[in-house]
Amino acid sequence: MKLAVINFSGNVGKSTVARHLLAPRLPGARVIAVESINADEGQEQSLRGFQFGELQEYLQAVDDVVVDIGASNVEELMRLMHRYRESHEEFDCFIVPTVPPPKQQQDTIATLADLHAVGVLPDRIQIVFNMVDDREPLERAFHILLSFLEQKPIALANTDCRVGVNEVYARVGGMSADLAEIARDETDYKRLIARAGDRQEKMALGRRLATRRLARGVVPELDACFAALNLGRFVSDDADVAGVAS
Ligand SMILES: Nc1ncnc2c1ncn2[C@@H]1O[C@H](COP(=O)(O)OP(=O)(O)OP(=O)(O)O)[C@@H](O)[C@H]1O
Ligand SMILES: [Mg+2]
Repeated sequence: MKLAVINFSGNVGKSTVARHLLAPRLPGARVIAVESINADEGQEQSLRGFQFGELQEYLQAVDDVVVDIGASNVEELMRLMHRYRESHEEFDCFIVPTVPPPKQQQDTIATLADLHAVGVLPDRIQIVFNMVDDREPLERAFHILLSFLEQKPIALANTDCRVGVNEVYARVGGMSADLAEIARDETDYKRLIARAGDRQEKMALGRRLATRRLARGVVPELDACFAALNLGRFVSDDADVAGVAS
């Protein structure tokens, strides 16, 4: 499966969604970051100042990939998708993370409209509602975007495709492991802390324990969000997609 994670807006969680929501649940998938600056750590490969032609060639050579398109490259990518007709068909689905602030919702609408203009069908464009705050109904927080989509259903907006605000994403920013991996870690931190020689070591171990606890808290939410994306419809053999076959 080949997915593109895209939004004209920066800081909406494209890299977070690619790394922690999508790649860990698509066996064998790697994340390719199309970033011109500050390619995120922990991502396996970056195409800096990339050539769209090269990206297309690369996409022929791999089966499973999540392409994380940094905000600074989105406009260029859109321009090239216009030029290379039907090139969007290389991707099974475009995942569009969005966040509540009105400016970001407007940018999300512009992103959806552009994808629609290059010919991507509505069922191949899916919103992920990110940084959702449980204290406010999602329908109210994302009112601008949802009412646009009611008028013009050019993308899928399933409100179960949601990721809550959580400090764990900032904590794991510089780490190479994804949250699912961190949650699976079985290290007995309490024992290690008891044996640790100095306070600094105890604190470092304590941080890792706290991160694992937070990770274990969010993994079920990420699983539910991934299941709601229903990406299994893009594979003939459902066994290829974790959580869809079972
Ligand atoms: N659900 C969330 N809860 C809390 N923080 C989050 C969440 N999602 C993302 N973040 C944080 O928001 C910041 C921006 O996220 P991220 O880097 O994934 O955005 P991006 O869209 O890839 O940005 P850019 O356009 O710069 O590449 C990061 O610090 C990340 O840890
Ligand atoms: Mg990013």
